[in-house]
Amino acid sequence: MFLSRLTRWSTTLLLLLVLALPAFAGHGKNGAEREGILLVAFGTTVPEARAAFDNIEEEVRKAFPDTEIRWAYSAKQVRRTIKENEGTALLSPASALARMGDEGFTHVAVQSLHTIPGAEFHDLIRTVAAFRNMPKGTRTVTLGEALLSSPDDMEKAAKALVSTFPAERKKTDAVVLMGHGTHHPANIYYPGLQYYLSKVEPNAFVGTVEGAPSLEDVVNELKARKARTVWLMPLMAVAGDHARNDMAGPEPESWKSVLEKEGFTVHTILRGTGEFDAITAIWVDHLRDAFSRLNQ
Ligand code: CO
Repeated sequence: MFLSRLTRWSTTLLLLLVLALPAFAGHGKNGAEREGILLVAFGTTVPEARAAFDNIEEEVRKAFPDTEIRWAYSAKQVRRTIKENEGTALLSPASALARMGDEGFTHVAVQSLHTIPGAEFHDLIRTVAAFRNMPKGTRTVTLGEALLSSPDDMEKAAKALVSTFPAERKKTDAVVLMGHGTHHPANIYYPGLQYYLSKVEPNAFVGTVEGAPSLEDVVNELKARKARTVWLMPLMAVAGDHARNDMAGPEPESWKSVLEKEGFTVHTILRGTGEFDAITAIWVDHLRDAFSRLNQ
């Protein structure tokens, strides 16, 4: 009897402690909580291409009107070039997170604006993990998935991409989406996307600059489907250097030149996926998910 009452007492005490702990943990020295969003893009040295970042920020602001939004750029070379050309010092994800920690942000949701979970995304996973253990820094840091992630994302992305195809395009015209491509195993997301894209639009093809499918693969597909006109669009957040040179440039190796030489009529669209709300909505969804994990 006495023992069982004691057990009941200690259980109650334990329960109270467990319930009270998160309340203590949830308040800093001055009790202030500050939530923030950190958007992380690869970055671009092409100023006009930054229209994509402006659009993404606008869409994120609509979804999170009361939360401060910061930016970081994961490409070292891009940050260096911008510093040289424009004198602007852009932050790396690590610098941005350190600064937010110092400024008193207690909870930060980091959103990757990468297309696939490749090398850049995996570096970001490690950076975020390091900041989770930073003493006196931000207490909770979460990371939102890249554009292409789950099968559900792939299906959504395929539909969203097709919705961005130009209205002037005839149904028989082919659309070729130029992705970056990578040596990282996540390159599989490009042929993966092709599967979902083919279900929505049989005349849409995915190619990559540095991975698979290659331009040669795409040319073979175009010939097999007897396409005559091709619309080239970037499958990258921004229409930066790759889109302007490798895709649409005047050099004989550009995709435009190669396709023209193969006899196709080629149109190029210099707009990054971040310029389209339908695609940006997927990143915003991933950010919603990361944000909801801040208080779990
Ligand atoms: Co590149």
